[in-house]
Amino acid sequence: MEQRKFRAAIIGCGGISKVHIAALQGMKNVEIAAVCDIREERLQMAVEKTGAKGYADWHEVVALKDIDVVHICLPHYLHAPVTIEALNQGRNVITEKPMASTIEDARAMIAASEKEGAPMLGVIFQNRYNSSVQRAKEIIESGEMGAFLGAAASVCWRREGAYYSESGWRGVKATEGAGSLINQSIHTLDLLSFLGGPIEKVRGSVFTGLNEGQIEVEDNAMAVALYAGGQRALIHTSNNNVADDAIEVNIHLEKGVLKMFGPKLYLVENGELKLIDSGDDKAIVGKTVWGNGHVSQLEDYYGCLDQGKHFWIDGRSAFPALSLVLSIIRSSEEGKWVELYKA
Ligand SMILES: NC(=O)c1ccc[n+]([C@@H]2O[C@H](COP(=O)([O-])OP(=O)(O)OC[C@H]3O[C@@H](n4cnc5c(N)ncnc54)[C@H](O)[C@@H]3O)[C@@H](O)[C@H]2O)c1
Repeated sequence: MEQRKFRAAIIGCGGISKVHIAALQGMKNVEIAAVCDIREERLQMAVEKTGAKGYADWHEVVALKDIDVVHICLPHYLHAPVTIEALNQGRNVITEKPMASTIEDARAMIAASEKEGAPMLGVIFQNRYNSSVQRAKEIIESGEMGAFLGAAASVCWRREGAYYSESGWRGVKATEGAGSLINQSIHTLDLLSFLGGPIEKVRGSVFTGLNEGQIEVEDNAMAVALYAGGQRALIHTSNNNVADDAIEVNIHLEKGVLKMFGPKLYLVENGELKLIDSGDDKAIVGKTVWGNGHVSQLEDYYGCLDQGKHFWIDGRSAFPALSLVLSIIRSSEEGKWVELYKA
């Protein structure tokens, strides 16, 4: 049977749009028909790369009746208004992480996507597609290593200077929403609940370290979280490292510890690391730390559209990671344990 062809629009033509463009250009059933950016030079580059029509105003793009899917590659604070207007205009949406920059916005997106007859909302969490993550999930769910006892995650990277000052939106609370938690470590926070189940409470502490005076948001965070089942998670994130270290997640199970180290998965045995998954081997588009999951996630999303199936990483599925981010910050501000926000 011939696959249905889809017409896509990309709104926001900065860093991550290049990954969406490359992924879509590798798919036979998608044509990039519109690109949009308020910066003229970025828009022109995207027009040249895709042959699509260029727009400066996103309102015009989401109103285009011949567009099937809108890809939102914009600063965080714009994810909610563009998603909601696009869904209301009848466009399917796939938005970059985080789904939104506030809880109110995230709830409004879920409501818009759950209206009778609403188009489909997907949220990018490409790391869920990493082979090491899939393998860890299989091991946890099969029970072969016993019950899940908890996890410890660390995301220690380096972000400073032009990364913040040149973007026009990073480092500013109103436009980024938060700092290292919402931007760099949200993928890993998402994996904590994807692998371990729902998190209920958290006690966290955040501060601005080496970027103090330059940004309004945190660049360091520590937290301990409790799962609904009573297990625990430790979280350490920083943008003040010497360089970007591999993300580490230790998953404690009754019969041993699994260790994710970058794209790889190991079993920790008598103090030695035994490789059990060497990570994805597809060509990498963009920064290596972003992984290769966009291609798999976008193929899956369009496959669902093609077959009329619901896409699994929807607003409700993406909400817990944002809730954890904003709950860690609230706990730090209030100096006490807090319950996570509910969708
Ligand atoms: N999934 C991942 O691993 C990953 C990696 C990087 C970035 N991201 C996410 O992608 C999103 C974009 O990040 P980025 O690094 O590409 O940022 P960026 O600043 O490079 O790109 C954003 C683009 O949006 C444009 N823009 C801003 N306001 C606009 C408006 N009103 N209308 C049209 N265009 C507008 C800017 O001019 C810019 O070109 C963020 O949500 C970020 O968290 C995800």
